[in-house]
Amino acid sequence: MQFSTKIFPQADLQSAKLLKPSLKTMLAQTTDCLVLGYSKADFEGFAGSKGTKAKVGVLAELDLFLGGSVSHANVLGDLDSKQASVCILRADKSWSANAVKAKRVLLLGMGDLRLTADQSLTAYSKVARAGLKALSGGSIENAIWFAPSFTLSKTSEKIAQEVRLTIQYAGDQAYRFGVRQPAMKFKAKDKADTFKHLIFAGNNACAKELKLAIEQGGAMVEGMNLAKDLGNLPPNICTPTYLGKTVQGLAKKTALKVEVLGLKQIEALGMGSFLSVAKGSETPPQFIVMRHQGGKTGEAPIVLVGKGITFDTGGISLKPGEAMDEMKYDMCGAASVIGTLYSAALMKLKKNVIGVVPTCENMPSGRATRPGDIVKSMSGQTIEILNTDAEGRLILCDALTYVERFKPKAVIDVATLTGACVIALGHVHSGVFSDDEVLVDALTKAGKDSLDTVWRLPLDAAYHEQLKSNFADVANIGGRPAGSVTAACFLSRFTEKYKWAHLDIAGTAWKSGAAKGSTGRPVPLLVNFLLAQK
Ligand code: BES
Ligand code: MN
Ligand code: ZN
Repeated sequence: MQFSTKIFPQADLQSAKLLKPSLKTMLAQTTDCLVLGYSKADFEGFAGSKGTKAKVGVLAELDLFLGGSVSHANVLGDLDSKQASVCILRADKSWSANAVKAKRVLLLGMGDLRLTADQSLTAYSKVARAGLKALSGGSIENAIWFAPSFTLSKTSEKIAQEVRLTIQYAGDQAYRFGVRQPAMKFKAKDKADTFKHLIFAGNNACAKELKLAIEQGGAMVEGMNLAKDLGNLPPNICTPTYLGKTVQGLAKKTALKVEVLGLKQIEALGMGSFLSVAKGSETPPQFIVMRHQGGKTGEAPIVLVGKGITFDTGGISLKPGEAMDEMKYDMCGAASVIGTLYSAALMKLKKNVIGVVPTCENMPSGRATRPGDIVKSMSGQTIEILNTDAEGRLILCDALTYVERFKPKAVIDVATLTGACVIALGHVHSGVFSDDEVLVDALTKAGKDSLDTVWRLPLDAAYHEQLKSNFADVANIGGRPAGSVTAACFLSRFTEKYKWAHLDIAGTAWKSGAAKGSTGRPVPLLVNFLLAQK
């Protein structure tokens, strides 16, 4: 999928209205499809005016250029005032007589525009999704998205935000695992969508914002695609070694600095907790550090830590067999951190960001950790492992101690940590846990801006009671009540030296059932969070 902008000079402004090249200019562009938004008021000004009453608004204006095509669609009942309604007009002789070069016009109803900022982005997202769906799967290869027609009197920042979201959705829609990983399907090959090129039109007044939005949106899609690939790849291919190699590959393509530590180095660091999980597997653990140095030297970095369990059988506390294949997605935290650093590098983000990924397999074997074993974490705290299936926190706690050395501005860990989070929040929001109000607010806002949302869950002292152990400093499970909270509480014991937030993405990182596949979340959230950092 390719994204670009087409900027029309200020002289094309038809009226004093912000950011509006003339309809005539837009229709004169050679394109498979010109995409235009109209409001409920536009619809009423057109379809609602009967008899001698003059028709007004963008639809009326359009109808003149298109030789009555809009009226015709309206008579057939194809036009609607409803939000996210879709109507495709196809060129006929009257179009070319009026110097219209667009082969189609896709009209998208935006409905009533009297909305709050939050509502308007959600509304726009529905409209954009409906529009993108109409563009895909047929013979349309390219389209011009007339960005200002969706925003009316709003600002150029708003346009940029909407364009970024459109790109995010277009990338989502265009993703085909089998096209990106052709070796995985020998006979039933997937085919790429015909729709390949989305062009955003605007004028000089929003040229800068549009170009930036395209760069940022395009980079974000690349990061999401990488995160999805890593999540979807089977666990016999996407091993800790594979993740290490992938990240080293990124260092060759971008300015990312990468270090991949192996077993010996992990042992030397004293990561007894991490190693206790890796022990049961034949495949060696890896500890990945990625650096994006986009800010000033010495500027405190934002550190992202991702859970990288490439397959979670539960270990000796073996999981039931049903849908166990989905535990290949237990490295989606890692995938999102790797994807986000890749995005940051591609967009040359002007901030220092470090990504850290502890990665291993959680397998049962003669060498595997037993329930009851006590291990020593890198922090010095001992942990009684009461359930080997609560392994995510065991690999993350050592990574959280390791990152102290970076003197971070903030640390965010991302993990498919608990089934309990899926029960609490379903597949809508990721869980966010933190004592730092500023960090929670920033993550909540970044989530809303990218429609990759989070919901705060508690992290009070009272829950720590559940983690008491008679034999070690802490137990690795706190029982069934508030399972996501006690998991977060466990992690918090290793984060005292910096500002920290934890994202539980167990319900949002992938989809089950017929649409089974990685979502690429929370890459949009993390990228938006990084972009918003001062
Ligand atoms: N990776 C799982 C969490 C998970 C389960 C995510 C299902 C998505 C869907 C994690 O390692 C795990 O097994 N957690 C246990 C913790 C329990 C033993 C305290 C869980 O949630 O059951
Ligand atoms: Mn587990
Ligand atoms: Zn797990």
